[in-house]
Amino acid sequence: MSNTGVLIMAAGKGTRMKSAHPKVLHDVLDKKLIDYVIENALSYTQNVSVLVSSDEVSEYITNKYPIKILWQREQLGTGHAVKICCEWWSDFKNLIVLNGDVPLMKKSSLKNFIDSSLNYDCVITSFITENPGAYGRIVHESNNIKIVEFKDASDDEKKIKEVNAGCYAFKVKSLEQVINLIDNNNAQGEYYLPDVLKFMNQKNMRVNSFIMPELEMLGVNNQEELTNINLILRDEILKKHLSNGVNILDLNSVYIGSDVEIDPDVKIMPNVQIWGKSKILSGSVIGSGSILKNAVIGHDVNIIAYAVIENSELKNNSKAGPFIYIRENSCLEKNSFAGKFVELKNTIVGENSKVPHLSYMGDAVLGHNVNIGAGSITCNYDGKNKNKTHIGNNCFVGSDTMFIAPVEIGDDSATAAGSVITKDIPVNSLGVARERQININDWSKRKK
Ligand code: UD1
Ligand code: MG
Repeated sequence: MSNTGVLIMAAGKGTRMKSAHPKVLHDVLDKKLIDYVIENALSYTQNVSVLVSSDEVSEYITNKYPIKILWQREQLGTGHAVKICCEWWSDFKNLIVLNGDVPLMKKSSLKNFIDSSLNYDCVITSFITENPGAYGRIVHESNNIKIVEFKDASDDEKKIKEVNAGCYAFKVKSLEQVINLIDNNNAQGEYYLPDVLKFMNQKNMRVNSFIMPELEMLGVNNQEELTNINLILRDEILKKHLSNGVNILDLNSVYIGSDVEIDPDVKIMPNVQIWGKSKILSGSVIGSGSILKNAVIGHDVNIIAYAVIENSELKNNSKAGPFIYIRENSCLEKNSFAGKFVELKNTIVGENSKVPHLSYMGDAVLGHNVNIGAGSITCNYDGKNKNKTHIGNNCFVGSDTMFIAPVEIGDDSATAAGSVITKDIPVNSLGVARERQININDWSKRKK
Protein backbone atom coordinates (compact mmCIF):
# COMPACT_ATOMS: atom_id res chain seq x y z
CA MET A 1 0.00 0.00 0.00
CA SER A 2 1.45 3.34 -1.02
CA ASN A 3 1.25 6.03 1.53
CA THR A 4 -0.32 9.08 -0.08
CA GLY A 5 -2.19 9.83 -3.28
CA VAL A 6 -3.18 13.24 -4.59
CA LEU A 7 -6.45 13.60 -6.49
CA ILE A 8 -6.93 16.81 -8.44
CA MET A 9 -10.56 17.63 -9.23
CA ALA A 10 -10.77 19.25 -12.65
CA ALA A 11 -14.01 17.94 -14.08
CA GLY A 12 -16.30 20.82 -13.13
CA LYS A 13 -18.27 22.56 -15.84
CA GLY A 14 -16.72 25.93 -15.12
CA THR A 15 -19.91 27.59 -16.37
CA ARG A 16 -19.12 30.85 -14.57
CA MET A 17 -16.13 31.35 -16.91
CA LYS A 18 -18.61 31.77 -19.83
CA SER A 19 -16.03 30.25 -22.14
CA ALA A 20 -16.12 27.47 -24.72
CA HIS A 21 -12.87 26.14 -23.19
CA PRO A 22 -12.51 24.18 -19.97
CA LYS A 23 -11.72 26.35 -16.96
CA VAL A 24 -8.50 24.57 -16.03
CA LEU A 25 -7.02 25.18 -19.50
CA HIS A 26 -7.20 28.95 -19.17
CA ASP A 27 -3.87 30.74 -19.03
CA VAL A 28 -2.19 31.93 -15.90
CA LEU A 29 0.82 33.80 -17.29
CA ASP A 30 2.51 31.34 -19.65
CA LYS A 31 1.00 28.12 -18.31
CA LYS A 32 -2.43 26.63 -17.94
CA LEU A 33 -4.24 26.86 -14.62
CA ILE A 34 -4.02 23.11 -14.16
CA ASP A 35 -0.22 23.09 -14.70
CA TYR A 36 0.36 24.88 -11.41
CA VAL A 37 -1.78 22.42 -9.48
CA ILE A 38 -0.21 19.36 -11.14
CA GLU A 39 3.36 20.64 -10.67
CA ASN A 40 2.59 21.29 -7.05
CA ALA A 41 1.16 17.81 -6.52
CA LEU A 42 4.07 16.16 -8.34
CA SER A 43 6.50 18.01 -6.07
CA TYR A 44 5.01 16.00 -3.22
CA THR A 45 4.41 12.57 -4.76
CA GLN A 46 4.26 10.79 -8.10
CA ASN A 47 0.91 9.23 -7.06
CA VAL A 48 -1.14 11.92 -8.72
CA SER A 49 -4.36 11.56 -10.61
CA VAL A 50 -6.57 14.17 -12.28
CA LEU A 51 -10.31 13.87 -12.61
CA VAL A 52 -11.50 15.29 -15.94
CA SER A 53 -14.66 15.55 -18.01
CA SER A 54 -13.32 16.68 -21.38
CA ASP A 55 -11.07 15.24 -24.07
CA GLU A 56 -9.32 18.61 -24.34
CA VAL A 57 -8.17 18.47 -20.71
CA SER A 58 -7.34 14.77 -20.88
CA GLU A 59 -5.21 15.22 -24.01
CA TYR A 60 -3.41 18.23 -22.62
CA ILE A 61 -2.46 16.40 -19.43
CA THR A 62 -1.58 13.09 -21.06
CA ASN A 63 0.79 14.80 -23.50
CA LYS A 64 2.60 16.56 -20.71
CA TYR A 65 2.62 14.46 -17.54
CA PRO A 66 2.96 10.76 -16.72
CA ILE A 67 -0.09 10.75 -14.49
CA LYS A 68 -3.37 8.90 -14.35
CA ILE A 69 -6.54 10.39 -15.81
CA LEU A 70 -9.89 9.54 -14.25
CA TRP A 71 -13.25 10.45 -15.79
CA GLN A 72 -16.37 12.01 -14.34
CA ARG A 73 -19.01 11.77 -17.07
CA GLU A 74 -21.68 13.68 -15.14
CA GLN A 75 -20.76 16.63 -12.95
CA LEU A 76 -22.80 16.03 -9.85
CA GLY A 77 -20.56 17.93 -7.44
CA THR A 78 -17.24 17.67 -5.63
CA GLY A 79 -18.50 14.91 -3.31
CA HIS A 80 -19.56 12.79 -6.28
CA ALA A 81 -16.20 13.57 -7.92
CA VAL A 82 -14.22 12.10 -5.03
CA LYS A 83 -16.58 9.18 -4.56
CA ILE A 84 -16.32 7.88 -8.11
CA CYS A 85 -12.52 7.78 -7.84
CA CYS A 86 -12.58 5.48 -4.82
CA GLU A 87 -11.15 2.53 -6.70
CA TRP A 88 -8.03 4.59 -7.34
CA TRP A 89 -7.63 6.12 -3.89
CA SER A 90 -8.58 3.08 -1.82
CA ASP A 91 -5.05 1.80 -2.41
CA PHE A 92 -3.55 4.62 -0.36
CA LYS A 93 -3.32 5.27 3.34
CA ASN A 94 -3.86 9.03 2.93
CA LEU A 95 -5.69 10.95 0.24
CA ILE A 96 -5.05 14.58 -0.57
CA VAL A 97 -7.78 16.25 -2.64
CA LEU A 98 -6.95 19.47 -4.47
CA ASN A 99 -9.31 21.77 -6.32
CA GLY A 100 -8.02 22.07 -9.88
CA ASP A 101 -8.93 25.77 -9.91
CA VAL A 102 -6.67 26.92 -7.04
CA PRO A 103 -3.29 27.51 -8.73
CA LEU A 104 -1.17 29.70 -6.44
CA MET A 105 -0.51 27.39 -3.51
CA LYS A 106 3.20 27.10 -2.81
CA LYS A 107 4.91 23.72 -2.69
CA SER A 108 6.11 24.44 0.84
CA SER A 109 2.56 25.30 1.95
CA LEU A 110 1.19 22.06 0.50
CA LYS A 111 3.84 20.12 2.38
CA ASN A 112 3.17 21.97 5.66
CA PHE A 113 -0.53 21.30 5.27
CA ILE A 114 -0.06 17.58 4.62
CA ASP A 115 2.42 17.30 7.49
CA SER A 116 -0.15 18.93 9.79
CA SER A 117 -2.77 16.31 8.91
CA LEU A 118 -0.96 13.24 10.24
CA ASN A 119 -3.01 12.81 13.40
CA TYR A 120 -6.40 13.68 11.96
CA ASP A 121 -9.08 11.86 10.01
CA CYS A 122 -9.54 14.97 7.93
CA VAL A 123 -7.89 18.37 7.70
CA ILE A 124 -9.28 21.03 5.43
CA THR A 125 -7.49 24.15 4.26
CA SER A 126 -9.05 27.50 4.98
CA PHE A 127 -8.13 31.14 4.69
CA ILE A 128 -9.32 34.29 6.33
CA THR A 129 -10.48 37.03 4.04
CA GLU A 130 -12.22 40.40 4.03
CA ASN A 131 -13.94 39.30 0.79
CA PRO A 132 -15.41 35.86 1.50
CA GLY A 133 -17.49 36.10 -1.72
CA ALA A 134 -18.99 32.77 -2.78
CA TYR A 135 -16.56 30.53 -0.89
CA GLY A 136 -17.89 27.91 1.50
CA ARG A 137 -17.96 29.26 5.08
CA ILE A 138 -16.15 27.47 7.92
CA VAL A 139 -18.38 27.17 10.95
CA HIS A 140 -16.64 26.24 14.21
CA GLU A 141 -18.99 24.53 16.68
CA SER A 142 -17.41 23.57 20.05
CA ASN A 143 -14.91 20.92 18.90
CA ASN A 144 -16.35 20.46 15.44
CA ILE A 145 -16.00 22.18 12.12
CA LYS A 146 -18.53 22.22 9.35
CA ILE A 147 -18.61 23.92 5.97
CA VAL A 148 -21.69 25.71 4.73
CA GLU A 149 -21.76 26.56 1.04
CA PHE A 150 -22.47 30.20 0.26
CA LYS A 151 -25.77 29.43 -1.46
CA ASP A 152 -26.95 27.47 1.58
CA ALA A 153 -25.64 29.90 4.21
CA SER A 154 -27.78 32.01 6.53
CA ASP A 155 -27.17 35.76 6.64
CA ASP A 156 -25.10 35.32 9.80
CA GLU A 157 -23.04 32.52 8.26
CA LYS A 158 -22.39 34.67 5.18
CA LYS A 159 -20.59 37.14 7.47
CA ILE A 160 -17.98 34.54 8.44
CA LYS A 161 -14.55 35.45 7.15
CA GLU A 162 -12.90 32.04 7.38
CA VAL A 163 -13.61 30.15 4.16
CA ASN A 164 -12.96 26.73 2.68
CA ALA A 165 -9.90 26.85 0.40
CA GLY A 166 -10.81 23.60 -1.34
CA CYS A 167 -7.88 21.37 -0.41
CA TYR A 168 -8.36 18.37 1.87
CA ALA A 169 -6.29 15.69 3.57
CA PHE A 170 -8.11 12.46 4.47
CA LYS A 171 -7.26 9.20 6.15
CA VAL A 172 -8.57 6.82 3.51
CA LYS A 173 -10.06 4.41 6.05
CA SER A 174 -12.04 7.28 7.59
CA LEU A 175 -13.17 8.77 4.28
CA GLU A 176 -14.46 5.36 3.19
CA GLN A 177 -16.87 5.36 6.12
CA VAL A 178 -18.53 8.67 5.19
CA ILE A 179 -18.19 9.33 1.46
CA ASN A 180 -21.33 7.37 0.61
CA LEU A 181 -23.43 9.18 3.22
CA ILE A 182 -23.54 12.59 1.55
CA ASP A 183 -26.63 13.57 -0.41
CA ASN A 184 -27.63 16.38 -2.75
CA ASN A 185 -30.36 18.02 -0.68
CA ASN A 186 -28.99 21.54 -0.95
CA ALA A 187 -29.41 24.78 -2.85
CA GLN A 188 -27.40 23.53 -5.83
CA GLY A 189 -28.67 19.96 -5.90
CA GLU A 190 -25.05 18.77 -5.83
CA TYR A 191 -23.10 16.27 -3.78
CA TYR A 192 -20.78 18.52 -1.76
CA LEU A 193 -17.46 17.08 -0.65
CA PRO A 194 -17.35 19.39 2.41
CA ASP A 195 -20.47 17.60 3.67
CA VAL A 196 -18.30 14.65 4.72
CA LEU A 197 -17.30 16.74 7.74
CA LYS A 198 -20.86 16.54 9.06
CA PHE A 199 -20.69 12.75 9.13
CA MET A 200 -17.14 12.69 10.45
CA ASN A 201 -18.29 14.85 13.34
CA GLN A 202 -21.14 12.44 14.03
CA LYS A 203 -18.68 9.56 14.14
CA ASN A 204 -16.38 11.47 16.49
CA MET A 205 -13.60 11.49 13.96
CA ARG A 206 -10.82 14.03 14.40
CA VAL A 207 -11.29 16.97 12.04
CA ASN A 208 -9.26 20.15 11.86
CA SER A 209 -8.75 23.20 9.66
CA PHE A 210 -5.39 24.51 8.55
CA ILE A 211 -5.24 28.23 7.82
CA MET A 212 -3.34 29.09 4.65
CA PRO A 213 -2.23 32.48 3.29
CA GLU A 214 -5.17 34.02 1.42
CA LEU A 215 -3.19 34.92 -1.69
CA GLU A 216 -2.14 31.29 -2.19
CA MET A 217 -5.63 29.86 -1.98
CA LEU A 218 -7.74 32.08 -4.21
CA GLY A 219 -9.86 30.05 -6.61
CA VAL A 220 -10.71 30.83 -10.21
CA ASN A 221 -14.41 30.69 -11.00
CA ASN A 222 -14.88 33.60 -13.40
CA GLN A 223 -12.84 35.82 -15.72
CA GLU A 224 -12.38 38.51 -13.08
CA GLU A 225 -10.83 36.02 -10.66
CA LEU A 226 -8.62 34.70 -13.47
CA THR A 227 -7.29 38.18 -14.24
CA ASN A 228 -6.77 38.80 -10.54
CA ILE A 229 -4.79 35.55 -10.16
CA ASN A 230 -2.62 36.51 -13.16
CA LEU A 231 -1.83 39.87 -11.61
CA ILE A 232 -1.06 38.39 -8.20
CA LEU A 233 1.33 35.83 -9.64
CA ARG A 234 2.92 38.42 -11.93
CA ASP A 235 3.59 40.78 -8.99
CA GLU A 236 5.01 37.98 -6.91
CA ILE A 237 7.40 36.91 -9.67
CA LEU A 238 8.51 40.50 -10.40
CA LYS A 239 9.18 41.10 -6.70
CA LYS A 240 11.26 37.93 -6.51
CA HIS A 241 13.43 39.17 -9.40
CA LEU A 242 13.72 42.66 -7.90
CA SER A 243 14.91 41.19 -4.63
CA ASN A 244 17.47 39.13 -6.56
CA GLY A 245 18.93 42.31 -8.08
CA VAL A 246 17.17 42.47 -11.43
CA ASN A 247 16.44 46.00 -12.64
CA ILE A 248 12.84 46.34 -13.87
CA LEU A 249 11.90 49.82 -14.96
CA ASP A 250 8.13 49.55 -15.01
CA LEU A 251 6.40 46.97 -12.84
CA ASN A 252 3.07 47.65 -14.52
CA SER A 253 3.98 46.51 -17.99
CA VAL A 254 6.46 43.66 -17.57
CA TYR A 255 5.36 40.01 -17.48
CA ILE A 256 7.68 37.17 -16.52
CA GLY A 257 6.74 33.48 -16.30
CA SER A 258 7.36 31.41 -13.19
CA ASP A 259 10.15 29.26 -14.68
CA VAL A 260 12.28 32.14 -16.01
CA GLU A 261 15.77 32.60 -14.51
CA ILE A 262 17.35 36.06 -14.48
CA ASP A 263 20.73 37.11 -13.07
CA PRO A 264 21.26 40.25 -11.02
CA ASP A 265 22.14 43.33 -13.08
CA VAL A 266 19.89 42.49 -15.98
CA LYS A 267 17.91 45.53 -17.07
CA ILE A 268 14.35 45.01 -18.27
CA MET A 269 12.73 47.90 -20.07
CA PRO A 270 8.94 48.58 -20.15
CA ASN A 271 6.49 46.36 -22.06
CA VAL A 272 8.60 43.23 -22.01
CA GLN A 273 7.32 39.64 -21.74
CA ILE A 274 9.65 36.77 -20.82
CA TRP A 275 8.20 33.27 -20.86
CA GLY A 276 8.98 29.57 -20.69
CA LYS A 277 12.41 28.36 -19.65
CA SER A 278 14.14 31.59 -20.60
CA LYS A 279 17.42 32.38 -18.90
CA ILE A 280 19.23 35.73 -18.88
CA LEU A 281 22.76 36.31 -17.59
CA SER A 282 24.07 39.46 -15.94
CA GLY A 283 24.76 42.69 -17.78
CA SER A 284 22.14 42.15 -20.46
CA VAL A 285 19.44 44.61 -21.44
CA ILE A 286 16.04 43.49 -22.69
CA GLY A 287 14.68 46.40 -24.70
CA SER A 288 11.11 47.68 -24.76
CA GLY A 289 8.45 45.67 -26.50
CA SER A 290 10.49 42.47 -26.60
CA ILE A 291 8.94 39.02 -26.15
CA LEU A 292 11.22 36.16 -25.18
CA LYS A 293 10.12 32.55 -25.02
CA ASN A 294 12.60 29.82 -24.10
CA ALA A 295 15.39 32.26 -24.92
CA VAL A 296 18.88 31.81 -23.52
CA ILE A 297 20.60 35.17 -23.24
CA GLY A 298 24.29 35.38 -22.29
CA HIS A 299 26.22 38.13 -20.49
CA ASP A 300 26.11 41.75 -21.71
CA VAL A 301 23.71 41.07 -24.55
CA ASN A 302 21.90 44.11 -25.88
CA ILE A 303 18.38 43.45 -27.16
CA ILE A 304 17.67 46.92 -28.39
CA ALA A 305 13.87 46.91 -28.71
CA TYR A 306 10.96 45.02 -30.23
CA ALA A 307 12.66 41.65 -30.55
CA VAL A 308 10.70 38.39 -30.58
CA ILE A 309 13.04 35.57 -29.61
CA GLU A 310 11.79 31.98 -29.41
CA ASN A 311 13.74 28.80 -28.60
CA SER A 312 17.01 30.51 -29.48
CA GLU A 313 20.26 31.66 -27.92
CA LEU A 314 22.06 35.00 -27.90
CA LYS A 315 25.61 34.55 -26.65
CA ASN A 316 27.79 37.01 -24.72
CA ASN A 317 28.05 40.54 -26.10
CA SER A 318 25.76 39.91 -29.02
CA LYS A 319 23.26 42.53 -30.10
CA ALA A 320 19.78 42.25 -31.63
CA GLY A 321 17.08 44.54 -32.96
CA PRO A 322 15.22 46.72 -33.10
CA PHE A 323 12.37 44.89 -34.87
CA ILE A 324 13.74 41.39 -35.23
CA TYR A 325 12.35 37.84 -35.11
CA ILE A 326 14.76 35.12 -34.01
CA ARG A 327 13.31 31.61 -33.84
CA GLU A 328 13.69 27.81 -34.01
CA ASN A 329 17.13 27.08 -32.57
CA SER A 330 18.86 30.12 -33.97
CA CYS A 331 21.98 31.42 -32.33
CA LEU A 332 23.83 34.70 -32.28
CA GLU A 333 27.39 33.72 -31.39
CA LYS A 334 29.61 36.02 -29.32
CA ASN A 335 29.86 39.65 -30.49
CA SER A 336 27.56 39.09 -33.42
CA PHE A 337 24.73 41.37 -34.44
CA ALA A 338 21.38 41.01 -36.16
CA GLY A 339 19.44 44.20 -36.63
CA LYS A 340 16.46 45.96 -38.11
CA PHE A 341 13.74 43.93 -39.87
CA VAL A 342 15.70 40.69 -39.81
CA GLU A 343 14.31 37.19 -39.39
CA LEU A 344 16.55 34.33 -38.34
CA LYS A 345 15.12 30.82 -38.41
CA ASN A 346 17.24 27.81 -37.43
CA THR A 347 20.30 29.90 -38.25
CA ILE A 348 23.68 30.38 -36.62
CA VAL A 349 25.32 33.78 -36.96
CA GLY A 350 29.04 33.21 -36.23
CA GLU A 351 31.28 35.25 -33.92
CA ASN A 352 31.69 38.90 -34.93
CA SER A 353 29.30 38.47 -37.86
CA LYS A 354 26.57 40.90 -38.80
CA VAL A 355 23.14 40.74 -40.39
CA PRO A 356 22.38 44.42 -39.94
CA HIS A 357 19.12 44.92 -41.83
CA LEU A 358 16.20 43.64 -43.89
CA SER A 359 17.28 40.02 -44.30
CA TYR A 360 15.85 36.53 -43.92
CA MET A 361 18.35 33.85 -42.96
CA GLY A 362 16.68 30.44 -42.67
CA ASP A 363 18.44 27.08 -42.15
CA ALA A 364 21.76 28.86 -42.57
CA VAL A 365 25.17 28.70 -40.93
CA LEU A 366 27.23 31.86 -41.11
CA GLY A 367 30.89 31.61 -40.15
CA HIS A 368 32.77 34.30 -38.21
CA ASN A 369 33.36 37.85 -39.48
CA VAL A 370 30.63 37.57 -42.07
CA ASN A 371 28.77 40.66 -43.26
CA ILE A 372 25.36 40.20 -44.84
CA GLY A 373 24.26 43.13 -47.01
CA ALA A 374 20.78 44.56 -46.65
CA GLY A 375 17.94 42.70 -48.29
CA SER A 376 19.74 39.34 -48.56
CA ILE A 377 17.70 36.17 -48.33
CA THR A 378 18.32 32.45 -48.11
CA CYS A 379 15.77 30.77 -50.38
CA ASN A 380 15.71 27.71 -48.15
CA TYR A 381 12.39 26.17 -49.17
CA ASP A 382 11.91 24.62 -52.58
CA GLY A 383 8.27 23.79 -51.94
CA LYS A 384 9.16 20.36 -50.57
CA ASN A 385 12.32 20.47 -48.53
CA LYS A 386 14.12 22.95 -46.31
CA ASN A 387 17.68 23.29 -47.63
CA LYS A 388 20.83 24.60 -45.99
CA THR A 389 22.99 27.59 -46.81
CA HIS A 390 26.59 27.63 -45.57
CA ILE A 391 28.47 30.89 -45.66
CA GLY A 392 32.16 30.55 -44.72
CA ASN A 393 34.30 32.75 -42.49
CA ASN A 394 35.13 36.33 -43.50
CA CYS A 395 32.61 36.42 -46.33
CA PHE A 396 31.15 39.66 -47.63
CA VAL A 397 27.64 39.27 -48.98
CA GLY A 398 26.55 42.08 -51.27
CA SER A 399 23.16 43.66 -50.69
CA ASP A 400 20.14 41.88 -52.08
CA THR A 401 21.84 38.52 -52.61
CA MET A 402 19.50 35.53 -52.97
CA PHE A 403 21.03 32.21 -51.91
CA ILE A 404 19.17 29.39 -53.66
CA ALA A 405 19.76 26.61 -51.12
CA PRO A 406 21.36 24.16 -50.85
CA VAL A 407 24.42 26.25 -51.49
CA GLU A 408 27.85 26.74 -49.97
CA ILE A 409 30.05 29.82 -49.98
CA GLY A 410 33.74 29.21 -49.26
CA ASP A 411 35.77 31.20 -46.71
CA ASP A 412 36.96 34.72 -47.62
CA SER A 413 34.54 34.98 -50.53
CA ALA A 414 32.04 37.59 -51.61
CA THR A 415 28.88 37.99 -53.65
CA ALA A 416 28.09 40.91 -55.89
CA ALA A 417 25.07 42.93 -54.86
CA GLY A 418 21.85 41.77 -56.49
CA SER A 419 23.16 38.28 -57.25
CA VAL A 420 21.02 35.17 -57.35
CA ILE A 421 23.50 32.55 -56.15
CA THR A 422 22.54 29.10 -57.40
CA LYS A 423 25.99 27.48 -57.38
CA ASP A 424 28.62 27.03 -54.67
CA ILE A 425 31.33 29.70 -54.54
CA PRO A 426 34.88 28.45 -53.89
CA VAL A 427 37.14 30.05 -51.24
CA ASN A 428 38.62 33.49 -51.94
CA SER A 429 36.20 34.09 -54.83
CA LEU A 430 33.53 36.52 -55.92
CA GLY A 431 30.16 35.19 -57.05
CA VAL A 432 28.47 37.46 -59.58
CA ALA A 433 25.09 36.30 -60.80
CA ARG A 434 23.31 39.18 -62.44
CA GLU A 435 22.96 40.81 -65.84
CA ARG A 436 25.80 43.11 -66.74
CA GLN A 437 24.63 46.69 -66.90
CA ILE A 438 24.34 48.38 -70.27
CA ASN A 439 23.92 52.13 -70.56
CA ILE A 440 21.91 53.54 -73.44
CA ASN A 441 23.50 56.87 -74.13
CA ASP A 442 21.27 59.92 -74.73
CA TRP A 443 18.17 57.85 -73.93
CA SER A 444 16.44 60.72 -72.10
CA LYS A 445 17.00 63.17 -74.91
CA ARG A 446 15.62 60.71 -77.47
CA LYS A 447 12.46 60.22 -75.39
CA LYS A 448 11.71 63.88 -75.61
C1 UD1 B 1 -15.68 24.70 -3.78
C2 UD1 B 1 -16.17 24.34 -2.39
C3 UD1 B 1 -16.20 25.58 -1.53
C4 UD1 B 1 -14.83 26.22 -1.50
C5 UD1 B 1 -14.28 26.45 -2.91
C6 UD1 B 1 -12.79 26.83 -2.83
C7 UD1 B 1 -17.72 22.50 -2.76
C8 UD1 B 1 -19.13 22.06 -2.78
N1 UD1 B 1 -17.50 23.77 -2.48
O1 UD1 B 1 -16.62 25.62 -4.33
O2 UD1 B 1 -16.60 25.24 -0.20
O3 UD1 B 1 -14.88 27.43 -0.78
O4 UD1 B 1 -14.37 25.26 -3.70
O5 UD1 B 1 -12.26 27.11 -4.08
O6 UD1 B 1 -16.82 21.68 -2.93
N2 UD1 B 1 -15.35 19.63 -9.77
C9 UD1 B 1 -15.35 18.38 -10.35
N3 UD1 B 1 -16.55 17.74 -10.51
C10 UD1 B 1 -17.72 18.27 -10.09
C11 UD1 B 1 -17.70 19.55 -9.51
C12 UD1 B 1 -16.50 20.20 -9.35
O7 UD1 B 1 -14.32 17.85 -10.72
O8 UD1 B 1 -18.76 17.61 -10.27
C13 UD1 B 1 -14.06 20.34 -9.63
C14 UD1 B 1 -13.99 21.63 -10.40
O9 UD1 B 1 -13.43 21.41 -11.68
C15 UD1 B 1 -13.08 22.49 -9.54
C16 UD1 B 1 -13.30 21.95 -8.14
O10 UD1 B 1 -13.90 20.67 -8.27
O11 UD1 B 1 -11.72 22.34 -9.89
C17 UD1 B 1 -14.21 22.85 -7.32
O12 UD1 B 1 -15.43 23.04 -8.00
P1 UD1 B 1 -16.12 24.45 -8.12
O13 UD1 B 1 -17.39 24.26 -8.88
O14 UD1 B 1 -15.17 25.47 -8.58
O15 UD1 B 1 -16.51 24.69 -6.60
P2 UD1 B 1 -16.62 26.09 -5.87
O16 UD1 B 1 -17.94 26.66 -6.15
O17 UD1 B 1 -15.44 26.91 -6.16
MG1 MG C 1 -14.01 26.88 -7.55
